[in-house]
Amino acid sequence: MDTVTPVGTSQPERLQRLCRLAQIPDGGATAVDAMLVDGEESVILLRQGQQVSGYLNICPHAGNRLDYAPGKFLLKNDTLICAVHGAVFKQSDGLCTGGPCRGQHLRAVPVRVIDDAVCLEREGRPVDAAG
Ligand code: FES
Repeated sequence: MDTVTPVGTSQPERLQRLCRLAQIPDGGATAVDAMLVDGEESVILLRQGQQVSGYLNICPHAGNRLDYAPGKFLLKNDTLICAVHGAVFKQSDGLCTGGPCRGQHLRAVPVRVIDDAVCLEREGRPVDAAG
């Protein structure tokens, strides 16, 4: 897991650096601990080229982490599969398309790539799918 480090004060808003982009394999995922508004949480970071999306590492089915080992995820095509009971989530928007919580979403965590750093946006407030 990476240590959370604040990004420079020249940024217009305070951003929390989560990891370097190179620490996430292209087409892969990792997990980092991030300080969110409600406290420290594990966050899934999924990378496609220069794009990174973030979700809370909490499955909507039973509240477990989705990784089978810390930072290790089951990825197939454009999906992320919960290692506990096999729920299948679209990487693009976190929608569960199969398994015990079909129709529910992972909670998105707003992240942004700045130079080679993956940073948390908007004070680390998770976003529900409905907005
Ligand atoms: S905890 Fe993820 S599918 Fe059950």
